Amino acid sequence: MEVLTLDTTKPPMRALLLENIHPDATALLTKAGYEVETRKGALSEDELIEALPGFSLLGIRSRTHITERVLAGAPDLAAIGAFCIGVNQIDLAAAAHRGVAVFNAPFSNTRSVVELVLAEIISLARRLPEKNAKLHAGEWDKSASGSHEVRGRRLGIVGYGNIGAQLSVLAENLGMSVYFYDIADKLAMGNARRCGTLTELLESVETVTLHVDGRPGNSGLFGDAEFAAMQPRSLFLNLSRGFVVDHAALRRNIEAGHLAGAAVDVFPQEPRSRGEEFRSDLRGLPNVILTPHVGGSTEEAQQDIGEFVAGKLHDYVTCGATALSVNLPRVALPHTPGTHRLVHLHHNVPGVLASINQLLAEYGANIEGQLLGTRDDLGYVLTDIGIEYPDDMLASLRSLDVTIRLRTTRP
Ligand SMILES: NC(=O)c1ccc[n+]([C@@H]2O[C@H](COP(=O)([O-])OP(=O)(O)OC[C@H]3O[C@@H](n4cnc5c(N)ncnc54)[C@H](O)[C@@H]3O)[C@@H](O)[C@H]2O)c1
Repeated sequence: MEVLTLDTTKPPMRALLLENIHPDATALLTKAGYEVETRKGALSEDELIEALPGFSLLGIRSRTHITERVLAGAPDLAAIGAFCIGVNQIDLAAAAHRGVAVFNAPFSNTRSVVELVLAEIISLARRLPEKNAKLHAGEWDKSASGSHEVRGRRLGIVGYGNIGAQLSVLAENLGMSVYFYDIADKLAMGNARRCGTLTELLESVETVTLHVDGRPGNSGLFGDAEFAAMQPRSLFLNLSRGFVVDHAALRRNIEAGHLAGAAVDVFPQEPRSRGEEFRSDLRGLPNVILTPHVGGSTEEAQQDIGEFVAGKLHDYVTCGATALSVNLPRVALPHTPGTHRLVHLHHNVPGVLASINQLLAEYGANIEGQLLGTRDDLGYVLTDIGIEYPDDMLASLRSLDVTIRLRTTRP
């Protein structure tokens, strides 16, 4: 990837990357001119407060928790990269109100999940879990009974977002007929058919796979009534969120033979560490594939996450780009050559833009490009001006009542 490098006449900006983030992130940031320090493990709240002063960028994964207290003790921090999908470990609102942008990698592991889903659909249709277990136990069960090709099979995708839509394309390439149901309006890929209701989808297909997001309303989305609406001897997969499915109901439907097989990667309660026992209603069932939340866990996904998030952090430092930020207003403005960029985060109240522009005019700064975005109570404006930043102009902008944080971009 081509990256802008930082101005080497200024002291290097520092980045702290924790939790064994992929080395491609370090390589990208180092090449761009940052001084990068890496640590294998996560840091506690107190350790973070001690470590963070002097660092502009912080990279974490899921085990480092960023609290209001940590943010208060990190005055130099400009942005946090969550080198993973989830951002629950970060107090996003507190970060936003201190002008710290947060980025994650929402689709770096999409392909990994889709490939596992396809592998599992084929495995379940051929009853591989059972055949594999029997052969390991010495039993030679050479039979075609209950084994099927997936070609021509009707696949129902619930949740047609990044993963659902990509699965739709690859499943059609395998010769499956794809149906989908989503609560939002979605473009149907290829020949996929949209269903108007969940029940319509469940009654139309022989394999159901869930790819909904984790909104609270999806808790218990799938239970006895939904399994009952599925065709007898269907296959069921969930690689989305554990709390979406009633696992006791799933067990009953497998044991009753209503479902011919299932694959589950996500669970309502998951062990927190390797040593802890995995407890689930689904253990010990025939033709059921259980995996420890590894749908998105591949080396390729980790590498993509490393490069993607490091790139977003660098774009934020050099251009103020927040297009994929999870906590700041989303703004990306092409840079006008020969200009200097002001990055202003403020309270979203009427008249802010007018006050900023009035002040710039008083200092004779002509505006060459400008873009404002808002998100709830925050406003974020990028302004390209035709003159170098006079110090007193920056001081005046910083002292506006509405200002949360003012930055000038580097280089
Ligand atoms: N198993 C893993 O390792 C793994 C890895 C990555 C993502 N995931 C999970 O997979 C899920 C999908 O990820 P994504 O990137 O495609 O998300 P996404 O946000 O792009 O797509 C989710 C889709 O579900 C739809 N939706 C939400 N509630 C719905 C409902 N009740 N009925 C129908 N449609 C509904 C939304 O409108 C959206 O189109 C997420 O829950 C994510 O956390 C799991």
